[in-house]
Amino acid sequence: MATYDLIVIGAGPGGYVCAIRAAQLGMKVAVAEGRATLGGTCLNVGCIPSKALLHATHELHEANHNFAKMGLIAETKVDWARMVAYKDEVIGQNTGGIEFLFKKNKIDWLKGYASIPAAGRVAVNGDTHEAKAIVVASGSQASTLPGVTIDEEVVVTSTGALSLKAIPERLVVIGAGVIGLEMGSVYARLGSKVTVVEYLDQITPGMDGEVSKQFQRILAKQGITFVLGTAVQGVERTNAGAVVVHRSRKTETEERLEADVVLVATGRKPYVDGLGLDALGVQMTPRGQIATDARFATSIPGVYAIGDVREGPMLAHKAEDEGVAVAEILAGQHGHVNYGVIPSVIYTTPEVASVGLTEEQLKAEGRAYKVGKFPFLGNGRAKAVFQGEGFVKILADKATDRILGAHLIGPMAGDLIHEVAVAMEFGAAAEDLARTCHAHPTFSEAVREAALACGDGAIHA
Ligand code: FAD
Ligand code: NAI
Repeated sequence: MATYDLIVIGAGPGGYVCAIRAAQLGMKVAVAEGRATLGGTCLNVGCIPSKALLHATHELHEANHNFAKMGLIAETKVDWARMVAYKDEVIGQNTGGIEFLFKKNKIDWLKGYASIPAAGRVAVNGDTHEAKAIVVASGSQASTLPGVTIDEEVVVTSTGALSLKAIPERLVVIGAGVIGLEMGSVYARLGSKVTVVEYLDQITPGMDGEVSKQFQRILAKQGITFVLGTAVQGVERTNAGAVVVHRSRKTETEERLEADVVLVATGRKPYVDGLGLDALGVQMTPRGQIATDARFATSIPGVYAIGDVREGPMLAHKAEDEGVAVAEILAGQHGHVNYGVIPSVIYTTPEVASVGLTEEQLKAEGRAYKVGKFPFLGNGRAKAVFQGEGFVKILADKATDRILGAHLIGPMAGDLIHEVAVAMEFGAAAEDLARTCHAHPTFSEAVREAALACGDGAIHA
C-alpha cells in the first residue's frame, strides 16, 4: 500500500491537469486511469481526434472549392484509411505527451479502474492506496435515447463516428448540438449526404440566436439538411443500415429516414460507474452529477470532484481550470474559476465562438445593453481567404460600456474570442478594445470594429 497526498481518479483534462498542478505545488500524487492511454475523452475520443478530422476535411474542402480560384490546380482523392491513421497518430502524440509530463512531474499512474472503498482510500486492481485527498475526475459518457441501441458500427456515438470503417453515403445525425454539427461537417465535406434531426426548432440551443440562425444557413449551404422540431422515436436496424423514425412536434406526423450510419449526439452524462459512490454515501444532483460546493468538495470529507462529472459546461478547458483550482485549494491557496468567462467554440468552418452572456440572457435579466456588430465582409483579410461570411457581435452595458459578452461566427473565431475573454477578465469597457491598436490585416480587426460599433461606429461598415 502506497500513501499519497493526492490520488486523482481519471486522467482526462480535469484529472491530469490537477495532478500536474498538485505535483508542482509539492504534493506526492498518483492518478488512476483505466484506459490504455492518458488524456481521457478529450485526447482519445473527443476534442483532439475530432479536430484532426475537421482539419483534414477542411483542407479537402479548400482544395475542392477554393484552390482553383487562386490558380492552384490540384486533384484531391480521399484515402480514408490514411486519414483515420493520421487522426490516430495525432492522438498518440498527445496522449504520449501526457505520459511524459507525468514522468517529469513524478506522478504515479495507477493503471486500472479505481473505486473508493472508504474516505482516504482508493482501490485499483486489488491494491488499496491511501490518500489525504481524492479528486474524482471520471468524466462523462454519451447519453442514449430510448428505442436506440448503440453498436458503434451502424448506430454510433461520437466514439464510433471517429473511426468508421468507411465514409457513409447517408449519415443521419440525431441532435444539432456541438458533436452533431462538428462530426456532421466532417462527413458532409467527405461527400456523405448528412441529415441532422433536432428536437428543438433551432440548432445549437443556448447559443446567441442571431449566430445560430446564420450558422444554420451556412451549414445548409454546405450541404447539410436540417429537420428541426422533430422527436426521434427510435432507430431500426436493417440489412442496408438503419432507419430513423421521427415525429414532427407540430404536425405529429411520423417520418422515416434511411441511413448507412446514424450518429446519436444528444448530449453526455456524468460517468461514475464502479467508483462505489453510492456505498460511500456521496451526494448526487438530480441530474446524476456529483454534488460539490464552491470548493469542489463532495459530501464526504477529503473527496472532491471536477470536470464533466460535476455541474457546469462539459468542456475540456472548464475541467482543466477546475483541476488547477482544486489543486491550489488543497495546497492552501485560493484556487478559483470564473464561470462567467468560459469561452465555448465550435470548430466548423466558419468557427463559432462565444463568451459571457447572450442577448437573450440579457433581455431575460432586463438589463440595459448595447450591441456592436461588424461583418467579416468588411475585413480585408477575411475576404482574401474566402471567409467573408459571419460577424463579430459584442454586447456591452449601456451605462458603463463594460463588456458583457461576445458572439462570433467567422474565420478563427475560436482564437479571436480570447481577446474578448481577457478584456472581460480585466473588467474592460468596449472602448478599451476599440482604442487598442490592432495589426492590419488581421481577422482581429473585426473584433476591434465591433467594439467601435458599441460606441460611435465602426470605420469599415
Ligand atoms: P474525461 O476527459 O472524460 O476523462 C475521464 C477519464 O476518467 C477517462 O479517461 C476515464 O477512462 C477515466 N475514468 C473514469 N472512471 C474511472 C475509474 N473509476 N478509474 C479510473 N479511471 C476512470 N471539449 C472542449 O472543450 N473542446 C472540444 O473541442 C471538445 N470536443 C469534443 C469532442 C467530442 C467528440 C467529445 C465526446 C467531447 C468533446 N469535448 C470538447 C468535451 C471534452 O472532451 C470533455 O469536456 C472533457 O474531456 C472532460 O474532461 P474530464 O477530465 O472531466 O473527463
Ligand atoms: P449537446 O447538448 O451540445 O447537443 C445535443 C442536442 O441534441 C441538443 O440540440 C438537443 O436538443 C438534441 N436532442 C436531445 N434529444 C433529442 C432527440 N430525442 N431527438 C432529437 N434531438 C435531440 O450535446 P452533444 O453535441 O452530444 O455534445 C455533448 C457535450 O460535449 C456538449 O456538452 C459539449 O459541450 C461537449 N463538446 C464540446 C465540443 C466543443 O467544445 N467544440 C465539441 C464536442 C462536444
